Amino acid sequence: MSSDKKHITILAIESSCDDTSAAVIRDGLLLSNVTASQKVHEEYGGVVPELASRAHQQNIVPVIDAALRRAGVSREELSAIGFTRGPGLLGSLLVGTSFAKGMALALHIPLIDVNHLQGHIMAHFVEPSEDMVNAGMIKGMTAEQLPLKHPDFPFLCLLVSGGNSQIVKVLSPSQMEIIGQTIDDAAGEAFDKCAKVLGLPYPGGPWIDKLAKEGNPEAFAFAKPNIAGYDYSFSGLKTSFLYTLRDLMKAHQVDSVEALEAHIPTLKQDVCASLQKTVIEILMKKLRKAAKDLNINTVAVAGGVSANSGLRAAFVDYGKRYQAKVFIPPFSFTTDNAAMIAQAAYYKYLDGQFCPISEVPFAKTKI
Ligand code: KG4
Repeated sequence: MSSDKKHITILAIESSCDDTSAAVIRDGLLLSNVTASQKVHEEYGGVVPELASRAHQQNIVPVIDAALRRAGVSREELSAIGFTRGPGLLGSLLVGTSFAKGMALALHIPLIDVNHLQGHIMAHFVEPSEDMVNAGMIKGMTAEQLPLKHPDFPFLCLLVSGGNSQIVKVLSPSQMEIIGQTIDDAAGEAFDKCAKVLGLPYPGGPWIDKLAKEGNPEAFAFAKPNIAGYDYSFSGLKTSFLYTLRDLMKAHQVDSVEALEAHIPTLKQDVCASLQKTVIEILMKKLRKAAKDLNINTVAVAGGVSANSGLRAAFVDYGKRYQAKVFIPPFSFTTDNAAMIAQAAYYKYLDGQFCPISEVPFAKTKI
């Protein structure tokens, strides 16, 4: 393999859903992270898998090129190629996987497959270079914050995205155990579907977050699940949200959310604030239960929904209330990105965990 190289330099590719991302990590330090998001899905109110894979094909070369250029790294300096193998949309994953294989073969370097969910958790260990931070490439971060603090093992990670809501016990970069998960919809999906009911653009999570800041979280009471153990459920909340609006429309004898707003001017803000509060309460209650039962005092949040300002505030509050160590990732590493895949691939490289060229992507998996 590439042990003759002076540094461990890995190019990582993420293409599991609708973001094409590439990152370069050298000896554990992130040198670049470039992401092309796909706007094409907005008019459909959700990701269209066929359009996503086509857009990945268009984006992948310029994104990888930009990641290598920004890192100041040539292809010949690469020690390995990391890629997201799954879970995700198969057509999207195939683009990243095939490209990674092609590059690894051409450069005679090893391939490292990364589980997307483990990648989200590994976002907590990403250490961006000072150059990246100074260049404003890490949203909301300044060089004074470097080096970043990383969680000690074991810790509990609340992994919340558009496709997953899980509590994961993290013992090491390679040892993770899902101790609770949603039995139906994910938290991000609940945000996105409720946003769609309100006529908000896709993805709706950030819009709900924005509107919630101006609304009254106590205005509406939505149903909360009653599920045993550490599992979650969000389908009942979605229905409760829908029925609340339906009943309001009936009471005011109107047939659209827009018409309802003429009667309740703060409707959108209030339903968003109430929905966000309910989702956060559901998420934090189970996390607290797990932390208490397992006697683990370090908790982290990861995945796209960890960008939510209310959830981030709830974590800060959790830390104060329970004297716990809490870890909230920088915004740039919350939604899908290759930096987290690069970090996971770096650990696998150190462990000598490479994958054969025959490896195929998978749509669904456990951690
Ligand atoms: O992790 P991610 O980028 O993609 C996967 O699902 O793998 O997560 C996307 C999800 C979407 O459901 C999106 O609405 C949600 O994260 N999201 C948010 C916020 N930003 C993104 N949800 C609530 N508040 C936000 N600020």
